[in-house]
Order: sequence, then C-alpha cells, then structure tokens
Amino acid sequence: MTRSQNVAIVGQGYVGLPLAMCGVAAGHHVVGIDSDERKVAGLRDGVSHVEDITDALVADALAGGRYRPTSSYDDAAGFDVAVITVPTPLQDGLPDVSHIETAVRQLAPQLRRGALVVLESTTYPGTTDEMVAPLLAELTGLSAGADFLLGYSPERIDPGNPQWHIGNTPKIVSGIDARSLAAVDEFYSGLVDVTVPVASTRQAELAKLLENTFRHINIALVNEIAVFAHQMDIDIWGTIDAAATKPYGFMKFVPGPGVGGHCLPVDPSYLSWQVRRTLGRSSRFIELANDVNNHMPDYVVQRLIEGLNRREKSLRGSRIVVLGASYKRNSADLRESPTIRILELLKQFDAVVTVVDPLVAADALPAHVARADLTESVVRGADAVLIAVAHEVFDFDFVQRHAAYILDTQRVTDGPATDLL
Ligand SMILES: NC(=O)c1ccc[n+]([C@@H]2O[C@H](COP(=O)([O-])OP(=O)(O)OC[C@H]3O[C@@H](n4cnc5c(N)ncnc54)[C@H](O)[C@@H]3O)[C@@H](O)[C@H]2O)c1
Repeated sequence: MTRSQNVAIVGQGYVGLPLAMCGVAAGHHVVGIDSDERKVAGLRDGVSHVEDITDALVADALAGGRYRPTSSYDDAAGFDVAVITVPTPLQDGLPDVSHIETAVRQLAPQLRRGALVVLESTTYPGTTDEMVAPLLAELTGLSAGADFLLGYSPERIDPGNPQWHIGNTPKIVSGIDARSLAAVDEFYSGLVDVTVPVASTRQAELAKLLENTFRHINIALVNEIAVFAHQMDIDIWGTIDAAATKPYGFMKFVPGPGVGGHCLPVDPSYLSWQVRRTLGRSSRFIELANDVNNHMPDYVVQRLIEGLNRREKSLRGSRIVVLGASYKRNSADLRESPTIRILELLKQFDAVVTVVDPLVAADALPAHVARADLTESVVRGADAVLIAVAHEVFDFDFVQRHAAYILDTQRVTDGPATDLL
C-alpha cells in the first residue's frame, strides 16, 4: 500500500497531467502546477487538454479532493515530493533548459528538509547534478543529498499508445546519492509496475537520449532506403515486411514524411550539443539522421510533383487535400510536425491546399491553408490527396472510392489511385 504523500507536479502537459492522475490513483494528494492559466482553468473545470486523459478522469480526481490544478507554487508549500515535467525545447538549434531553471527557482521557496525533488524533463547528461542541485542549494541554503533528496527519472510516455502507459512501462529511476535513489525508487514503485534503478542521474539522462536517438537514427535509415528503393522501383514496404520476418537482430521501422513532436527532432540534439561542449566532437550519426529526416518533407513534395506530372498536371494551381497535420496518429499535437513544413513548401509552389484534421484546433494551423471536413466533394475535387497522418477517424476506404490520386505516406490505402511513399 502506497504511503499517501503531498506531491507537486510542475507542468501539466503531455507528461505532467498523466503523471498527476497516476499519483491521485496511487492515493497521493497532488498539486498540479502549470504556468499556463488557460490549461489550469480548463483542468479546474474538469476539462483535459491531453488526449489520453479523459475529462471524466480529471473530474473524478477533482471530486475526490486529491487533485488541485493551480498556477501558484504557494499551493505546493511543504511538499513531500515534487516532480518537474516542463518543456525542454531547442532554441536556434541549441538546448533550452530555461524552463527547468525557472521551475526550480519557483519551486525552491517551497522546499523543506527531507523532501524529494525529481526531474523528468528530457535533457542532457549532467543537468540534475550540475545545474538543478547547485541551484536548489543556492536558493534554499540547503544541501542536496544531506538536506533534501534529488533524482532524475525520464518519462517514456507515448501519447496515443493504447498498449503502453505510465503504469506498465518500466521506469528508470536514479538519484544523486544512495538515499536519493532509494526515495525516487520508493515513490515510483507506488506508481508503476517495474522500476529500473540505475547508478547515476547522468546514466538515466543519457539512457533517455539513447532511446530516442536510436529511434531517430533508425527512422532516418529506413527513410533513406525508401528514397533509394523508389528510385530503383522496389517496393520498400514489402521489403520491410520481408526483413521483419527475421526473428532476431532486426527491428521494424517504417518510412514517413519526417519526424515531429517534442522528442525525436529535439532530444538527439541535446546529446550532440553536450558531446560537442564537453568532448569537442561531432555526433555524426545524429547529424546525418537530422539531415535525412529534415529532408523528408521536401521528398514528399517532390513525389507529389512526380505523381501530378504523370497525370499531366503541375503542382502550381493543383488542389491538394492533406489528411492529418499533427506529428503523429490520433494526436492533436502539432509541435515540429513535418506536415507544417510540407504545407509551407506547397505554398511556395502555389498549390491550393486544404487540410483535413478534425483533431487539431481551428486556430492552430497556418493561416494560408483552408480547412475542410472529409466529404465526398472535398476528396473528388482534389487533384491529389496526401495522406500525411493516418488518424483512426479517417475512413480510408471512402477516400479511395473518391480520390483520383493519393500519395500515401502511411500505407493505409492500396487501390489503383495510390502511390505509396
Ligand atoms: N510529450 C511526450 O511524448 C514526452 C515523452 C517523454 C518525455 N517528454 C519530455 O517531458 C518534458 C515535458 O514535455 P511535455 O510534452 O509534457 O510538454 P508540454 O508542453 O505538453 O507540457 C509542459 C507544461 O509545462 C508548463 N510550464 C512551462 N514552464 C513552467 C513553469 N516554470 N512552471 C510551471 N509550468 C510550466 C507549460 O505551460 C506546459 O503546460 C519535456 O522535456 C519532454 O521532452 C515528453
């Protein structure tokens, strides 16, 4: 049975809100702090802004009196455990850990002796022990390890994944010393099925970057081979299916229009920045993968030009209907979405673009594109339908029945009108 504690979760986004709900379910009193007043107001009204968290779950947590969304750090006074889940974006291609620093500064006045602070934001190795620990010590006059406990536990949440969620995904835990590790481990053992203690916070920070860099590089590899395969007139999808029958030593990755979201386009650059800063070396795999993946939107547009050309049309003036704008299936998240880059390129070619994405908020798309629902007249009126993201809500049989030409980056159609990426 988990000991009920006062838990502050800093950041109520894709990572923090599910964690807060998990904390409530485990019997803790959770204060969910977010600097975005609109998110806090929504949460107070029982409205979730994260797809995997239902309004009912938030409403139940509120009704049970164990969840308090707030924008005031004062509400976290005397916390037992604080978890920091704020964004770690890139700024001009470089790591921007300013949100972590701000959160630490705001949290510090509430820190008391014996409390535990855990960083969950993805970041470069050394952030916890070389930045968070001294900053908290300087601001509070307390000593990290001796007076308060400090650790790092990377988040592995995969929004929209129906199989793997916080509870059943093994959680790496680490601390700046043995007592801190034990406290981090105890806290997360109450939330998840399996914890994976590691030797240092740097190891835990690097493990997270290794996981996402691995994925980034393998996607780049298959993207590059997809381009070659098309030029050699070989079906890449059948090729991947064949390779994936090998029971060992191969892991299936599929091509796509590029990588997006908060993780893959960002996290590897945290690693390459730290490698350059501390070792003066370049991370060649990461740079190559960035290069390949960043060029996929150009490649998609090139394929559209080819497909239209075969139909004796030019991209200029053609009506292109783009299905899906977010960076991944069944998500409303537009961050770093390669589709946004595709839309920019289509604009440069003077295509007439309509986007269909019922998940994405009306005001979130670039102003130059029109929006529509997936109707027969929209599909029939298109010179090309580009399937960029295969949301479950899309009826692809319907699309195939009415489209003259489909460029499908997701392999969800197979009719005569379809060109697969
Ligand atoms: N989204 C994912 O799938 C995912 C998965 C694993 C790890 N991560 C990592 O987790 C971290 C958070 O990502 P996210 O997707 O939840 O981001 P997010 O933008 O959805 O949520 C972060 C929240 O923090 C709030 N915030 C920013 N500064 C704050 C401050 N000083 N005080 C209080 N709140 C503040 C923002 O308003 C926002 O609501 C990042 O480091 C990310 O790389 C994300």
